[in-house]
Amino acid sequence: MQLTRSGLIRIALIHGPNLNMLGVRDADIYGKDDFESVNRKITAHAKYLGVDVTIKQSNSEGAIVDFVQEAMGEANAIVINPGAYTHYSYAIRDAIADSRLPTIEVHLSNVHAREEFRRHSVISAVTTGQVVGFGPYGYLMALSAAKNLIEESHR
Ligand code: DQA
Repeated sequence: MQLTRSGLIRIALIHGPNLNMLGVRDADIYGKDDFESVNRKITAHAKYLGVDVTIKQSNSEGAIVDFVQEAMGEANAIVINPGAYTHYSYAIRDAIADSRLPTIEVHLSNVHAREEFRRHSVISAVTTGQVVGFGPYGYLMALSAAKNLIEESHR
């Protein structure tokens, strides 16, 4: 079964604001791994799964909208941690909805056990599902889930 021209499932992984500061941000909440270490784990898991992953990060809302739009021509699925934009960015939500790509939302921390404002995601309604509270391992879960989603949709 040929899924893409290259034969590999392609996943766009997007990190939002302040996630480049992992390792410096509160380790009790976000863990000890720095950003590079998280990305190494993501790349290693993608290799293990046999999927192609492109990792991008920005602190800017507009750049994240651009990343989602770019994914439309380049990827089969999106994995995204929109950081604080999760809670109020209708622009990122619209971009995800318009992309029509299966999208998995990831949060390192358990946002439901934190401040009230973090309990609401304006993104979730347009995603396939959410992975929260498992630290960097959540990205690996999301990659596996994305691969499964694409394979199931091609059966
Ligand atoms: C986060 C949760 C958000 O509320 C927060 O603003 C972040 C990180 C997480 O991964 O747990 O920057 O998305």
